[in-house]
Amino acid sequence: MTLLHDAGPSLGLQDFRLLRDLVNRFCGIYFADDSAYIVERRLRERLRELGIDTFEEYYRYLQYHPRAEAELEAAAEVLTTNETYFFREAYQLRAFADEILPAVRARALSRGAKRLDIWSAGCSSGEEVYTIAMLIDSTGFFEGWDVRVFGNDISRRVLRKARSATYGRASFRAMIPDYERYFIDTEEGKQVHPRIRSMCHFGHLNLMNERRAAIVGRVDVTFCRNVLIYFDDASRRKVLDTIYQRLNRGGYLLLGHSESLLHSSTAFEIAQLTTDIAYRRPLPYTDLPPRRS
Ligand SMILES: C[S@@+](CC[C@H](N)C(=O)[O-])C[C@H]1O[C@@H](n2cnc3c(N)ncnc32)[C@H](O)[C@@H]1O
Repeated sequence: MTLLHDAGPSLGLQDFRLLRDLVNRFCGIYFADDSAYIVERRLRERLRELGIDTFEEYYRYLQYHPRAEAELEAAAEVLTTNETYFFREAYQLRAFADEILPAVRARALSRGAKRLDIWSAGCSSGEEVYTIAMLIDSTGFFEGWDVRVFGNDISRRVLRKARSATYGRASFRAMIPDYERYFIDTEEGKQVHPRIRSMCHFGHLNLMNERRAAIVGRVDVTFCRNVLIYFDDASRRKVLDTIYQRLNRGGYLLLGHSESLLHSSTAFEIAQLTTDIAYRRPLPYTDLPPRRS
């Protein structure tokens, strides 16, 4: 049975399921049967590039070819959704700036460390990373601190864009005018100010590879927004476990507005903020304030 009959090789249901499961094991993204046409359309580009005529042959390539790993990355590249923009979900960013940053700052100071580490897991082309750095800078709370915002993504294409730090109009659709001061006009578009860029670091990472995720070190806050919605439950649980391991105790996790940890992790506690909820890695018992009797 074939699923579609337009130009290019057709993806039968059996091959679709084999490819879908391979991609899922590799990067966590899961395509239900009714989105087979998306996989067919997007992967045709890969078949063309490799001079492969059928999806059956492509599946064999992904399993046995010496370049299989690199090709899985290329497949993930075309199958991921990279939509992002500056100041996405402003109410959540406000809670981050007004409530989470002061809490994290107080905790770092209690440890005698003027160091702040934030991780954007699945950062796409970098707008989220630079937004976080602009928010941190604008609080004025962290002058003289060692501040690092790490952005990781499985797509090398979006990381190249992130490092260029230069953006067109679509990235500014939710821009807050106050923060325009952090951009410089160039011929290619608006470029993030060097001071903000110097706080931000980008690296390639497949979140399903928990051993490689150790390169991130320990962080105070993780943003993993609009990434796990494309994953199946088991992969989501796996990545949440990695995120938990990378968070300092008392550190925060922020998910996208339509996402929750329900059914995925019981390790985190809920941090009730004024306009939002976040998740938190619990403090060790000994660090908790004494109970009032
Ligand atoms: C929709 S974008 C979200 C970007 C940003 N976090 C935001 O909310 O605006 C999802 C990003 O997750 C990345 N991604 C998907 N699976 C991944 C994986 N296994 N490891 C790392 N990044 C992944 C995609 O490449 C894509 O750039």
